[in-house]
Amino acid sequence: MKGILNVDDFQRAARRRLPRIFADYIEGGAFSETTLARNRADLEALRLRQRVLRPVGEPDLSVTLRGQKLSLPFGPGPVGFMGLYRHHGEIAVARAAMKAGVPSVLSSFSISGLHTVAAVTASVPDFQLYLDRDPEVNSERLETARKVGVRRIFFTVDTAVTSVRERDVRNGFRALDRVTPALLWQFAQRPAWSLDVLRSGFPQVELAAGRPEYGRGALAQARNLSSRLEKNLTWSMLSNLRSQWQGELIVKGLMDADDMRQARDSGADGIVVSNHGGRQLDHGCSTISKVKAARQAIGPELSLYVDGGFRRGTDIIKAIALGADFVLLGRPFAWAVASGAEAAVNHLFSFLGQEVAITLQLMGLRSIKELSLLGEDAFEASSLS
Ligand SMILES: Cc1cc2nc3c(=O)[nH]c(=O)nc-3n(C[C@H](O)[C@H](O)[C@H](O)COP(=O)(O)O)c2cc1C
Repeated sequence: MKGILNVDDFQRAARRRLPRIFADYIEGGAFSETTLARNRADLEALRLRQRVLRPVGEPDLSVTLRGQKLSLPFGPGPVGFMGLYRHHGEIAVARAAMKAGVPSVLSSFSISGLHTVAAVTASVPDFQLYLDRDPEVNSERLETARKVGVRRIFFTVDTAVTSVRERDVRNGFRALDRVTPALLWQFAQRPAWSLDVLRSGFPQVELAAGRPEYGRGALAQARNLSSRLEKNLTWSMLSNLRSQWQGELIVKGLMDADDMRQARDSGADGIVVSNHGGRQLDHGCSTISKVKAARQAIGPELSLYVDGGFRRGTDIIKAIALGADFVLLGRPFAWAVASGAEAAVNHLFSFLGQEVAITLQLMGLRSIKELSLLGEDAFEASSLS
């Protein structure tokens, strides 16, 4: 991938290829985008300790999550509509993740759904679940996941309402259910994207395809699927889900220690410390600032994931040192897919893995395991507050 050295390069490449409405949808955060910026600022404020004259060699980047060995400590989180950013976007991410030796998490709002991705990638992705108001619809979704052989469900709980993302309001993203002249103009300015994605008609969300009540085309379906989400999520729904799902259950979107303890007590196998990439509660905390408290709240046994603003190997190292088991990245995978399909996602895995490896070596460490054991001693004490 010529000229692409890091995630920022992918972000710029994606913006050059995507119609503005989608580039803004991916990048944007809620209201004044304060939480969005804070995720990055707090990661950057942490300073790592440089240690020298130690044997380092080729570092071991593997981690073990509830008995499953993964080659890297990071991977793709659930991002809706990947197939809108590039034809077969979900498949590109799933294939690259399989090759990298980590799971991918398929969003409920995917163009290619569970059946398709599992059929063509020889690996079953993890599945992200949004609860619909209709319990029957939820049972159906769980049944599909069971049949396909899904190992983990990520139950997203931070979207009882969809927050306001002003870039989307300006672009008319939520109000769109047909292709307007203004949108056609944007598509015309991005011919490579248009030819690729629109070649077989406007994409459909697989979960909604063949169901006229959700409308036609991904944009209308997105709006209708979102409007049907359960707005009154409660802890008893989590307990219910626990009794219906025998596989791993990970609760995604927790930021408060009391909620984390309650998730553990409700039978969750793990949690994702997440503020939805700064897209929901504005003026909230950064996710990195909550990792240590999260580990204390849930204890050593549960899986601890974190996401939100992770762009560099150094960011990933910081989360692991504070107690996370695994880091999810959202936008970087969307940007890679938009820029260059599966080869681009392979490239993202490759340079981020290299960044993690080099950082470990320069800290005098030989493995992610050693880093976890080192804990807060990985940091210059004055940068921890
Ligand atoms: C364009 C976009 C779509 C997303 N769609 C979903 C989704 O369908 N389900 C979900 O649980 N989270 C979704 N998220 C949130 C991500 O899973 C993740 O929490 C967030 O993107 C992490 O922050 P990062 O993008 O800075 O890495 C989405 C995020 C973005 C940017």
